[in-house]
Amino acid sequence: MSKPIYILNGPNLNLLGQRQPEIYGRETLEDVAAACAALAMDLGLVICFHQTNHEGQLVDWVQEARGQGAGIIINPAAYTHTSVAILDALHAFDGPVLEVHISNVHKREAFRQHSYVSLRADGVIAGCGTEGYLLALRRMKSLIAA
Ligand code: DQA
Repeated sequence: MSKPIYILNGPNLNLLGQRQPEIYGRETLEDVAAACAALAMDLGLVICFHQTNHEGQLVDWVQEARGQGAGIIINPAAYTHTSVAILDALHAFDGPVLEVHISNVHKREAFRQHSYVSLRADGVIAGCGTEGYLLALRRMKSLIAA
């Protein structure tokens, strides 16, 4: 079986659909996971979809993806703007990395406009709503095929 694409989600994304729906929309994270699973099946990809509120858990999953994962799609949520630990873990991963933000972080507060993860990401999708995860999966398919 081919190596999975890790789709990693950071803090408060478990509240998707309830949390600031005017910014993040009404879809739940379960809806997003189901849409990703359906698209992955069409693309012939296998996914490992995870969410945590804890920085160290994200680091652990990125480390797990070393050797075991073909690529990483990550929405680190608030840790995007603060976490050198996640950046360092991503630097130790050899495959493609795509960063996803549901909202357009560049249209928001100044502190959201800096991303540590972008220093490693091969591509960034922001402001496309939850569809951004599906766009990232399609891009991941091309990156892996290249
Ligand atoms: C987010 C943007 C972050 O600034 C914020 O802290 C999040 C979600 C997004 O998907 O738009 O929790 O990553």
